[in-house]
Amino acid sequence: MTTTDADAATVASRHASYIIEGGVPLHGTVRLSGAKNAATKMFVASMLSDAPTRLRNAPRHVGDVQITQEVVTSLGGSVVWHDDTTVTITTPDITNPIIPPELGRKNRLAILTAGPLLHRTGTAVIPRPGGDRIGPRPIDFHINGLVQMGAAIELREELYYLTAARLRGATIALPFPSVGATETLLIAAALAQGVTIIQNAAIEPEIMDLVKFLQKMGAIIEQRTDRKIVIEGVDRLHGADHPILADRMEAVSLAVAGYVTHGDVTLEGASQDHLLSFLNTLYRVGLDFTVEDNAIRFGGGAWPPRSIALETDVHPGFMTDWQQPFTVLLTQARGMSVVHETLYEDRFGYTRALRLMGADIGLYKKCLGELACRFRERQFHHSAIVRGPTPLYAAMLDIPDIRAGCSYIVAALCASGTTTAYGIEHIERGYEHLDGKLRALGAHITKVGIDAPVPDDI
Ligand code: EPU
Repeated sequence: MTTTDADAATVASRHASYIIEGGVPLHGTVRLSGAKNAATKMFVASMLSDAPTRLRNAPRHVGDVQITQEVVTSLGGSVVWHDDTTVTITTPDITNPIIPPELGRKNRLAILTAGPLLHRTGTAVIPRPGGDRIGPRPIDFHINGLVQMGAAIELREELYYLTAARLRGATIALPFPSVGATETLLIAAALAQGVTIIQNAAIEPEIMDLVKFLQKMGAIIEQRTDRKIVIEGVDRLHGADHPILADRMEAVSLAVAGYVTHGDVTLEGASQDHLLSFLNTLYRVGLDFTVEDNAIRFGGGAWPPRSIALETDVHPGFMTDWQQPFTVLLTQARGMSVVHETLYEDRFGYTRALRLMGADIGLYKKCLGELACRFRERQFHHSAIVRGPTPLYAAMLDIPDIRAGCSYIVAALCASGTTTAYGIEHIERGYEHLDGKLRALGAHITKVGIDAPVPDDI
């Protein structure tokens, strides 16, 4: 049976949406959830051992965590939640080292299982992830690194077949400090024979949290200067108990929502260490904040903010995932701001919706910035010019992916009128109770309709 446009429209209309009344200042305190981009990697790393691992501050109600949980259980592990944030993962045996293709293609995490599967069974079958709305996002760095560590890898019909008697240490120079590739190789190297050196490694806080977790499991890992991580392989790892760091993307999204509504928002668990470049950028645009012992209060400063030139970069630079909510803030800044995206070739698609809401944003293929960028001389719209301040108006929006979705919500909170945002399943796979947290801060946001299935496109 084929699906007609009318059928598709009916299905879409049944899916849940957020109804957001803009212009209401956000005030109050909420606690940040644990970082999904650390939790999911720790779920996978726990499978290096057959002993139980306990994670605290885990974001249970995030779609990506649930997908990773399904991956672990499909491989023979058990995942037991004690409450909404504490979970025990135990994988006594890997019964079947094959990631079910429909599950593995739901996100880009399947390749991280290469290390645990190869160490424990000598083989692995892992589906190739698809491209997505922010660019093709290949996994060649992961694959090349694993080959250097001695894995034999064949790609047949969109499935990678991996084999290795035992992975061995290698010196791997990443062409770019990729978060995922650094994590795949760290996890694989922990039990490899000999020393692995990852050069040009990514050093995001979520990766350093993974390093701490692996060390608690018995791994020997050193961070040297100049993006070099050295892993001395050990023969065996054991279980660990670890509290996951707070989510930096959630922190920035809620903080910006506070500013653009002229509110004052305190985020418990927010860490100055992990937000340094965001906090510096707030000062640059003239906004204020107060660092407390275990929280940061975002509010104050001069309004409208000043325009700036902003470039995304790998850590410790300004994160690509902060770019979208921050661009909403720049629509309210006085003058011309420039945003240069250097991580992904196609991460400005969401600005179309902002323009519909009244923003003045132009996209450019040129590098409008100083950072060396892999997209120079290539035909990607990876720079933006934002002129402000422009009032924003409510609209009917279709959310295409997690971070774009969050910028739509922030824009809707800033806009006059009532916005309806569809496609909120994209938000729910990356943010835990975003609507509930916004309501706790006084936002007028209501969820209506039926939950859609988890989408396949992170
Ligand atoms: N790249 C390659 N080949 C590879 C790996 C990466 O060319 O083998 C390129 C990518 O195409 C991209 C750049 O290198 O242009 C950086 O990609 P990276 O590997 O660092 O990103 P990732 O590991 O796929 C994670 C987060 C993203 C976040 C980026 C950058 C997870 C699950 N995802 O992605 O977060 O934007 O690092 O910080 O950890 C999200 O949470 O919504 C999200 C997209």
